[in-house]
Amino acid sequence: MPKTDASKKHSGKAASKKQSKKAAAAVEATAALAAAPESAAPQLSFDTLCIQGGYDPKVSEPRILPIVQSTTYKYDDIDHVNRIMTLQAFGHKYSRTSNPTVAGFEARMNLLEGGAAAVATASGQAANLLAVISIVRAGDHILSASQLYGGTFTLFNSTLKKFGIETSFFDPNAPQAEIEKLIRPETRLIFGETIGNPGLAILDFDKLAGIAKKHGIPFIVDNSLATAWLCQPFKHGANIVTYSATKYIDGHATSIGGAVIDGGNFDWTNGKFPDFTTPDPTYNGVIYTESFPQTAFLIKARAQFLRDFGGCLSPMNAFLFNMGLETLHLRMPRHGDNAHALADFLEKHPSVAWINYPGLNATGKKHIEKYFRHKNGSGILTFGIKGGLDAVRRFVKRLKVAALVVHIADARTGVLHPATSTHAQLNEEQCLAAGITPDMIRVSVGTEDIADLIADFDQALNAA
Ligand SMILES: Cc1ncc(COP(=O)(O)O)c(C=O)c1O
Repeated sequence: MPKTDASKKHSGKAASKKQSKKAAAAVEATAALAAAPESAAPQLSFDTLCIQGGYDPKVSEPRILPIVQSTTYKYDDIDHVNRIMTLQAFGHKYSRTSNPTVAGFEARMNLLEGGAAAVATASGQAANLLAVISIVRAGDHILSASQLYGGTFTLFNSTLKKFGIETSFFDPNAPQAEIEKLIRPETRLIFGETIGNPGLAILDFDKLAGIAKKHGIPFIVDNSLATAWLCQPFKHGANIVTYSATKYIDGHATSIGGAVIDGGNFDWTNGKFPDFTTPDPTYNGVIYTESFPQTAFLIKARAQFLRDFGGCLSPMNAFLFNMGLETLHLRMPRHGDNAHALADFLEKHPSVAWINYPGLNATGKKHIEKYFRHKNGSGILTFGIKGGLDAVRRFVKRLKVAALVVHIADARTGVLHPATSTHAQLNEEQCLAAGITPDMIRVSVGTEDIADLIADFDQALNAA
């Protein structure tokens, strides 16, 4: 517990500061659950961290992160519970705000991203909501790349608008000056997806981080399609990273979940974020930036959002995600190699009008060189089929190895027609801004044998 200045202890200001520090110590301890344990040495390589990071069993403890399927934790006396509930001591109190299995997953995600602390969420949607709602309030403005997953677009463009938060969208490939024109005095964050779903533009991190820095606002990056294996956005100026863990983190299409990771590298005291720098009356008067200079964002997000909105991850899903992470470094190269090979095949097929894969176009290639840890464009590609919607229908029906699914990024190859599914709520203009044309088929290339995939696409295209 931090020391307080005895000479000031009866002044209201000092008392509130003391209370803030007490609260802080406890919440920080909760957040410490999501920080890297000291024994998980940061000098371990990425591949080793995928397997062992974040969980360090002692003698006779389970080697595998155990599933603590418990909402509840036991205490010796009411004073102990009181200290936890009034944020003067640490302890799991209720699995809505923390749970040992979920904490293991959070710690591993944090290590892989190179962040300061992480919090897991019930879904990717909950992760993006948590990330932005922890920063903006009614009257604020968001600046977002237009190439977005459809659910994130409707969250920004429609739902948050109802709560008084407006979003302007920019073409991620537009020049810096054009994007900067959209900044308003009330703009509070910039948002983008490392690889846009399904436009597949790779963010120019230097450009967007530069704008964010110049205007004193955080840069949030949804890293779901790249994963930390391909790209670690904190190394390129991002301040907060979000995930739909449902995608490559799970990797097997079993669980819905998400994560938010705090880079600990943004100055919330620049005058634009009073919720971080003034006492939080709902948390014993804690002042997040005073008590947690490095992880103010993450602690506020966990303390307020999980408590009030309840979008927490279940221990079972955390266990499955943790297991998914153990093969992330093995699966991602295969997804990328298969996608590249299928893209090469489709590019030459007479029934294919166009093909988009990050490794094939010049800008994508340049950004992979500059920002990615491996020369790999991940596992998603899109292509246009000749013959309109009828050809799309025939092609999809003919597939035998690949299947029509509303999902991406698992071991089984899946296809989707975004204009009539994930982006069906967007009008034609919005679809085009998101990189979606009526003839577009999105392919999530799995880890099957590439020869089987090419043969399957060949027969289905020939029939279409
Ligand atoms: C890039 C991206 N972010 C967020 C989400 C939302 O994630 P979830 O489906 O886990 O809520 C998705 C879903 O497809 C996505 O593709």
